[in-house]
Amino acid sequence: MNDALQHPLFRRIGAIADAKGVQAFVIGGYVRDYFLRRPCTDIDIVVTGSGIEMAEALGKEVKSHVSVFKNFGTAMLRYDGWEVEFVGARKESYRADSRKPIVENGTLHDDQLRRDFTINAMAFSLNADSFGELVDPFNGMEDLERCIIRTPCDPDTTFSDDPLRMIRAVRFASQLGFDIAPDTFEAIGRNKERIKIVSKERIITELNKIMASPVPSIGFELFDQSGLLPLIFPELDRLKGVERVGKHAHKDNFRHTLQVTDNVARRSDNLWLRWAALLHDIGKPRTKAYDPKVGWTFHGHEVVGSKMVATIFRNMKLPMNEKMKYVQKLVFLHLRPIILSEDTVTDSAVRRLLFEAGDDIDDLMMLCEADITSENRDKVKRYLRNFELVRIKLREIEEKDRIRNFQPPISGELIMQVYGLKPCRIVGDIKNAIKEAILDGIIANDYDQAYAYMERLAAEQGLTKISE
Ligand code: CTP
Repeated sequence: MNDALQHPLFRRIGAIADAKGVQAFVIGGYVRDYFLRRPCTDIDIVVTGSGIEMAEALGKEVKSHVSVFKNFGTAMLRYDGWEVEFVGARKESYRADSRKPIVENGTLHDDQLRRDFTINAMAFSLNADSFGELVDPFNGMEDLERCIIRTPCDPDTTFSDDPLRMIRAVRFASQLGFDIAPDTFEAIGRNKERIKIVSKERIITELNKIMASPVPSIGFELFDQSGLLPLIFPELDRLKGVERVGKHAHKDNFRHTLQVTDNVARRSDNLWLRWAALLHDIGKPRTKAYDPKVGWTFHGHEVVGSKMVATIFRNMKLPMNEKMKYVQKLVFLHLRPIILSEDTVTDSAVRRLLFEAGDDIDDLMMLCEADITSENRDKVKRYLRNFELVRIKLREIEEKDRIRNFQPPISGELIMQVYGLKPCRIVGDIKNAIKEAILDGIIANDYDQAYAYMERLAAEQGLTKISE
């Protein structure tokens, strides 16, 4: 018995195929992931006939709604936690002058030949007479065992059929820790310009899978080596290189960025924290300057970088929501704990950082620790020790002052009400001065002290109360 096909659904599909006199196979990611022992809830079924008719027959039997995509000749239904997609086996060819494929019905072999990689072209038969038999004409199993990404046919054809597959090759290499076969990899270099015709939405899905993989740098190194990097991520490409004047050289910010991203990936699955790591120094090329006294400087790169985050998110079709703001915030604040750890740590500086970082303070500290990529072990140890001191201080101040997510205890409305004011600058000034006084430790984060402070400030401005 084939373990991959234990679920009764597979026999059921096989029986429908037998009744219709066609062949049905489970193919692609489900078969690959079964052998890799990875969980998979997407099932792709290929039929030597109409995929839509097959899905409708199954939908009727299991009483499940079938979504039909007529233009693509596919149909999908959800069943028992699975997402099952049906497609008719196709023989597909593309004309060089058009992206519209000429689609004809084909055999299973035709269909397998036009898939992206050999490891994704394996199929299990579902018909009763051959149930569970593996059909693997392109030695996908051997490539799976040898950890190789290879196209089933000539890679120029595979990539020209769908240029996204160049990025998918890199994604699978990064996600699974596989190598791309040399001829497949060379073809990426030859076809890279074709990536321009692929939609941003499809590209970002793959990029996020690279970001979510155990060692994301594998993917970005491969983008660099294949020549895809400047085409899909020019801002990251611009981090490359080392410039030298006399004895002054700066580090290669591309390599450093990848190291930081891997460091974060080792400690956290948070996709957006990984994005913050990838973008933390993105403002460096624009702020780079040379000062003969101190060498290379990147003043304000955290400000420029955090502004670039919005543009990059928009261009790449990443979400323009609180995730983007979170990445912006971490990029903006990523130097602050370093500055804190270098100076004598004052309560007020710690309070300010807590106020600005809010609940993201732990993520920020993780990013900063990941940012230490020096080769010098003593230096790394020293930095880490300093960060430990910052963490202790953060805990102390947080316990004492509850600054994280703090809202100033005196609102603008209250100030207006007590002094009979309409919204005006003075209200904002008083409110802000109260906030600053709390952050500086002049008064405690509590209502009574803040109220008394407001009274003092108002008196200085010659304001008189109209209510308490
Ligand atoms: N496929 C392809 N070319 C593409 C995308 C997909 O040939 N550009 C084929 C592959 O056989 C793949 C199958 O369609 O296995 C399903 O694709 P998809 O669901 O996108 O990816 P999976 O391989 O299932 O991988 P994952 O679940 O990790 O996305």
